[in-house]
Amino acid sequence: MKHSLRSATAAVALLIAGTQAASAAEQISVLHWWTSGGESKAIRVLRDDMSKQGYGWNDFAVAGGSGTAAMTALKTQVISGNAPSAAQIKGPLIQDWADQGVLVTIDPSATDWKSHLPAPIDSDVKSGGHYVAVPFSVHRINWLWINKADLDKVGGTPPATWAEFFALADKFRAAGITPVAHGGQPWQDMTIWETVVLSQGADFYRKALVDLDQKTLTSPQMVQVFETVQKIRTYFDKSYHGRDWNLATAMVISGSGGMQFMGDWAKGEFANANKKADVDFVCAPAPGTSNAYTYTADAFVFFKQNGKKDATPGQLAMAKTIMSPDFQEQFSLNKGSIPVRLDVSMDKFDACAKKSRADEQATIKSGGFFPSLAFGELQSPVTAGAITDVVTNFMNSNEDAKEGVRKLAAAAKVK
Ligand code: GAL
Repeated sequence: MKHSLRSATAAVALLIAGTQAASAAEQISVLHWWTSGGESKAIRVLRDDMSKQGYGWNDFAVAGGSGTAAMTALKTQVISGNAPSAAQIKGPLIQDWADQGVLVTIDPSATDWKSHLPAPIDSDVKSGGHYVAVPFSVHRINWLWINKADLDKVGGTPPATWAEFFALADKFRAAGITPVAHGGQPWQDMTIWETVVLSQGADFYRKALVDLDQKTLTSPQMVQVFETVQKIRTYFDKSYHGRDWNLATAMVISGSGGMQFMGDWAKGEFANANKKADVDFVCAPAPGTSNAYTYTADAFVFFKQNGKKDATPGQLAMAKTIMSPDFQEQFSLNKGSIPVRLDVSMDKFDACAKKSRADEQATIKSGGFFPSLAFGELQSPVTAGAITDVVTNFMNSNEDAKEGVRKLAAAAKVK
């Protein structure tokens, strides 16, 4: 009797402790732009992992590929004193937010990160020597996605040069397939333009987009870039204006579209539709870019909560989870990326991801591994924005290539 009373009391005490822990469970508010089918599946892996650890999740998903709308929403939240616990940010913007003094460091969770990250990404997620962001994965931008049945139907092969590309596009057109599935939004226009810049060689990309060298920006080769982009445009369908990227990917999934230039989050959409690499679709480096690699590395930063200068337990737990090998694997399998952590096995990944990892390593050595301008990894938002305006205006008008180049050179000076 005594014994059962004691155990009943113990059970009640446990229950109370449990309830207190549950009611005290930290709610983590998370701002991100992962709303497409593949993207949502990927972020759900994190939400589930955090929930297993007892943390609540307030989701602030702001739709809009590449995060343009999300960044505006974030500014409003921070200015009104409602900064989220975690927000998706990358590239130079990480430094900008850190300079505002609104971020916490996550050093306690990052004890061994340096040895597991590609050097350029390790320095991107630090400010003043402290980790202020946690990277998720590496997305390669310079991919061309091709519907395999369409490719077989026209008897084509993945194009290695622009001449081969246009020949294949003509075959698709003749077969009644939209050759290039595209979404006419500024960041998607930039994706194509930047990829064509890369196809002129690693040195050209470096001089033009990293150094913003005026001589390169105004060179005849840059005129050629604009002319190539102009020609690619003639292979879009009529309703490309404003189309979301995942709808363009859906065209390639269904076969109504033959090809798409897009970062490998497109593979997240293929995977979500149960489509397999080399069976249903083919991934190939965009024409002329097999020896180069443009990347974007998604990351979360953590904002000070309630004026406290240190990270909360939930923020530290989230940072640790994101960099854990298991999460890295599961997330990228859904997202289409490769783990940013270099010690994660690629065994479970498809041929595209394996190629991405091999090319990442090779281009880091060869000097062909570049942050993407189109995805905010390279220049300040002001400069990148000015260049984006020029490119998108060019792609939506009948401007002459030389005029495009002239405006580009001026935009590159905007600081
Ligand atoms: C990029 C981001 C990717 C993907 C894409 C489309 O900026 O790095 O993870 O989500 O936008 O939304």
